[in-house]
Amino acid sequence: MLHTIPAFDRIGEENAFAVLARATKLAEQGRDIINLGIGQPDFSTPAHIVEAAVKALRDGHHGYTPANGLIATREAVVRRTLATTGVEVSPESVMIMPGGKPTMFAAILMFGEPGADILYPDPGFPIYRSMIEFTGATPVPVPMREENGFAFSAEETLALITPRTRLLVLNSPANPTGGVTPRAEIEKLVAGLAAFPDVALLSDEIYDVMTYDGERHSSLLGFAEIRDRLIVLNGWSKTWAMTGWRMGWSIWPERLYDKVRKLAVNCWSCVNAPSQYAGIAAIDGPQDEVETMLRAFDRRRKVIVEGLNGLPGISCVTPKGAFYAYPNVRDTGLPAKKMAAALLDEAGVATIGGPDFGVLGEGYLRLSYANSEENILRAIERMEAFLTR
Ligand SMILES: Cc1ncc(COP(=O)(O)O)c(C=O)c1O
Repeated sequence: MLHTIPAFDRIGEENAFAVLARATKLAEQGRDIINLGIGQPDFSTPAHIVEAAVKALRDGHHGYTPANGLIATREAVVRRTLATTGVEVSPESVMIMPGGKPTMFAAILMFGEPGADILYPDPGFPIYRSMIEFTGATPVPVPMREENGFAFSAEETLALITPRTRLLVLNSPANPTGGVTPRAEIEKLVAGLAAFPDVALLSDEIYDVMTYDGERHSSLLGFAEIRDRLIVLNGWSKTWAMTGWRMGWSIWPERLYDKVRKLAVNCWSCVNAPSQYAGIAAIDGPQDEVETMLRAFDRRRKVIVEGLNGLPGISCVTPKGAFYAYPNVRDTGLPAKKMAAALLDEAGVATIGGPDFGVLGEGYLRLSYANSEENILRAIERMEAFLTR
């Protein structure tokens, strides 16, 4: 008998990976599958970034780096943060991480334990809840409401804070909804947080540059009054189409930095060296391919929202950020996960059911529009045929 600890029976999953596996299997069987399930850019990493990694390998960068990352990579993050937020952080506050998720893992592990509450967005990225449950803390969903553009409501969020609350997880622009929390609401939230100085904050800003219709992302870093309890999650995966490189960064308050650095020493030692050189090239090199990608996402966003709104029983608010559409499918009469499964099996369109993003996800589907306009239009046609059948 092996005695694993109960925490491992509480750990969850990201169903997007299960849907990807199923879609891949169907495709291997010869089915024509349009994958709007997985959340990753359909673009390749720009060539100059790939070349920087190849050069690093050729130049002999094959060994460990410092656990918190190469100073050159951390300094690149400092430049990038200054450019996007106007805030100059110290390279000694920057951790280079193997992706965005490890920051989530570290931050939630640092604050979660039985008896503690952790607030997180629902619907939201499924790993927040999974990790909270893993630590034994109580997950407290903060509702992201359609009528509110799937943004955080400062009032509703603050009302959920109790003496047990240790950590508040924020995410804007958001997965799975594409919601962007307006600056005025963030200001209200930050003002209200002054009454709760013992609550730490994890702001997941991995989609920071992906906003549309003139909307701008407001980083929590812009608020000096919360800097001593704020962890900002960001990374290369989405902006530079680098999901497979496993490259992320986070910015930590001084009093937490050594804790996360030591976790890195114990857990992964460091991020692989060539990727860290690629990360510098991504930040410092030309951004024209990023711009091209963002323009493509914006066009596809309009195509998918228009298409979805033309389908019987479906309505879709226009997402202001990220690359997801999150239509309301309640009037189709189908439970969301059943609908997602049937769409994949019968119509060859991979989507994710809202319940995979939280207890408030019933009645919604997530469609990633990180796919070609042609495929999006074909997917809409197939969905129409499915729904009118
Ligand atoms: C909101 C959010 N945070 C973090 C991540 C994780 O990013 P990474 O693939 O770099 O671990 C994702 C990926 O889908 C995401 O949607």
